[in-house]
Amino acid sequence: MPALRAQPVKGLSGKIRVPGDKSVSHRSLMLSALAIGETRISGLLEGEDVLATASAMRAMGADIVRDDDGTWRVSGVGVGGLAEPRSVIDMGNAGTGVRLLMGLVATHPINCTFTGDASLSRRPMERVMGPLRRFGTVFTAREGGLLPITVSGADNPVPVRAEMTVPSAQVKSAVLLAGLNTPGETCVIEKEATRDHTENMLRHFGAEVVSEPWPAGGVMIRLTGQPTLTATDIQVPADISSAAFPIVAALITPGSDVTIEAVGLNPLRAGLILTLKDMGADLTIENERTEGGEPVGDIRVRSGRLKGIDVPPERAPSMIDEYPVLSVCAAFAEGTTRMTGLAELRVKESDRLAAMVDGLTACGVTVRSGEDWMEVDGTGAAPRGGATIAVDLDHRIAMSFLVLGSATSEPVAIDDAQAIATSFPGFAGLMNGLGTSIEEFEA
Ligand code: S3P
Repeated sequence: MPALRAQPVKGLSGKIRVPGDKSVSHRSLMLSALAIGETRISGLLEGEDVLATASAMRAMGADIVRDDDGTWRVSGVGVGGLAEPRSVIDMGNAGTGVRLLMGLVATHPINCTFTGDASLSRRPMERVMGPLRRFGTVFTAREGGLLPITVSGADNPVPVRAEMTVPSAQVKSAVLLAGLNTPGETCVIEKEATRDHTENMLRHFGAEVVSEPWPAGGVMIRLTGQPTLTATDIQVPADISSAAFPIVAALITPGSDVTIEAVGLNPLRAGLILTLKDMGADLTIENERTEGGEPVGDIRVRSGRLKGIDVPPERAPSMIDEYPVLSVCAAFAEGTTRMTGLAELRVKESDRLAAMVDGLTACGVTVRSGEDWMEVDGTGAAPRGGATIAVDLDHRIAMSFLVLGSATSEPVAIDDAQAIATSFPGFAGLMNGLGTSIEEFEA
């Protein structure tokens, strides 16, 4: 397990493209595996999480190949056509992968057992099993509703109208994907809008999905069951959640000027951009366009003075994965940054709220926190750094602290870089190409 250390540097510069969007990549493999005909996917994230989804879809009968030019070609089995896998499906670290797949198989008359790594095996799954049971699906889980879980898909599923109790695109998507092989109309009501890639991509493959305002606030999404999904081409945008690391690195490293190309800017994902602008970041979006049905643009970032702000809690679903690196940015701002509405951070790949509070404190930053909030005091000067952070199988914690160590007074190390490959293969090389100094070292 390699340990990595970031040395403080000055002046990042250059143009890069970060890997494909993880959310869009998972969904593109799942829906193409259910479509009739051959789908061609370009820009797919070839991180471990997405590769686990590709293996799972192959195990259930889809034909998936990668061409030498990086295009993925998927021949699907048709809605209702998934085959029972012969062995246990190991989803590794992939929370999105396993939760969406539980939905997909929930209404196929097959049995399927999912397992995962130590991080995934402690994450809550009842949030998806609860609504999925209403289709007629039976689950056998470890105590506490944890993986490994065997899904016994419903023979004669009945449509469901599910009101979301947590703001989670994964739960919403699991229900919609279960609705695919269910007669009639499956409905999801969400009080707080979450990323809508599932809805967009279902429409792209020809399903009828209607999203309309819900009178009590929020949105109602209706899917007409048992559509024919038709193969189509998909262009995966670069992942804004990965772009967040070079963006913050450039903001906090004096003398930087960096451009990240073709980043997906779906408004339900782009809360970090609004927040950084509120902090006074010198950040411009250039070349805005639509690619594969999603808005994309090139993000140009220059370092400069930042100020502490209150981040509105209603923005949380649109930047939920970006709070770790935002809290790093806040440590360099002048004044206090208050982040509230963060309950979901406690159940990500690790307890991210605790991980950031502990790690930032170890690096000399003043942080206060409660069950669902965190405050970071910035002085406008670089914090000390000088700590080794245990990342506990969490890719975003690992990358956040390597970004921090690129601009602190003393280096910052992480104990295990392995998890980075789940979402951002090539992270250190790409960042070093901009001017960081992130190297392996003997822990
Ligand atoms: C994701 C949804 C989010 C996010 C995760 C990807 C998705 O999780 O944290 O990285 O692709 O649907 P929740 O839906 O649990 O908030």
